[in-house]
Amino acid sequence: MKNEIIDSIKAYQSGKLVAIPTETVYGLSAPIDNPKLIEKIFAIKERPFFDPLIVHVSSIEMAKSCCSQWPEIADELAKSFWPGPLTLILPKAAHIQDTITSGLDTVGVRCPNQRKTLELIATLNAPIAAPSANKFGRTSPTSIEHVKKEFSPDDVYFLDGGVCDVGIESTIIKIEDKVLRFLRKGAITSENVSSIAKRFGFEIRFGDDQKIEAPGQIKHHYMPNIPLILVYDQTPQNACELAAQKLNLKAQDGRELALSTDPVIAARTLYSKMREVAQLNGKFMFVVIESRYKNDSLWDAIIDRLTRASTFIC
Ligand code: TXA
Ligand code: MG
Repeated sequence: MKNEIIDSIKAYQSGKLVAIPTETVYGLSAPIDNPKLIEKIFAIKERPFFDPLIVHVSSIEMAKSCCSQWPEIADELAKSFWPGPLTLILPKAAHIQDTITSGLDTVGVRCPNQRKTLELIATLNAPIAAPSANKFGRTSPTSIEHVKKEFSPDDVYFLDGGVCDVGIESTIIKIEDKVLRFLRKGAITSENVSSIAKRFGFEIRFGDDQKIEAPGQIKHHYMPNIPLILVYDQTPQNACELAAQKLNLKAQDGRELALSTDPVIAARTLYSKMREVAQLNGKFMFVVIESRYKNDSLWDAIIDRLTRASTFIC
């Protein structure tokens, strides 16, 4: 077996968390049956306890062991999209601690599409809970270097799996009575699941009617360390001037967050570009989006992250 998998398991045993690569973003992980380490996740991320963690598994069987119900549609979604960027929210099994679920009676489970992390979970033979490996509210990490900038090797073992392929966090779907509820948009889109929903007689809805608590739901999230202004349908020059005016700053202090016109590439590079642009000695950054992009589900997920990361929108 690879040394880094053994070293990761040793790290857990010595009281450290393990930064895990996934296809979406890096996670900061602990075995679900280690309450001390689970608490350490919240402590070093400075994350409030009301924000529940996703449980990562290496098989459908393992996911089932975390849930008190596993409806047929869950099985179908898992078979179709796992390993992959999809988190399913289901009623939790009794052994899943309240710290992981923030006291909710549901749990989020996901099987990530990343060889090393799957090997770690399978070797441990137990699920691991992991939020994204960034300080609470800040930009998510898509390379191990991003994680190393925010956390100390005294607290975290760094498992390097290269650059994340998808680049934005998993789609979160809560499975309710005849409803698939999208709590967070991501690379698995409503179009992707619509035929399964139809076959099982489920409706697709977005957001939460009750009050949730989901990650993206928090307005200021994914924030870079200088203000980000989201501007629709302008040339970069106009966008920069508009943003500068609103911020009472000079246009020369603006830096453009220029995204690819291909949403797959834009998602993959979003967070690393945000970090790069934040280092360019500007006083603010701006991003120009064409409003017609909203018709595309992956762009919609990217715009969701940009909206939450932005100080304001013009
Ligand atoms: O792609 C991802 O999902 C990444 C990688 C590491 O797997 N993880 C991630 O974790 O984005 P995090 O903690 O940054 O966002 C997970 C969100 C939480 O903020 C939480 O609101 C939501 O998932 N969540 C977890 N359990 C939930 C539950 N039982 N009900 C509703 N939302 C839940
Ligand atoms: Mg996060």
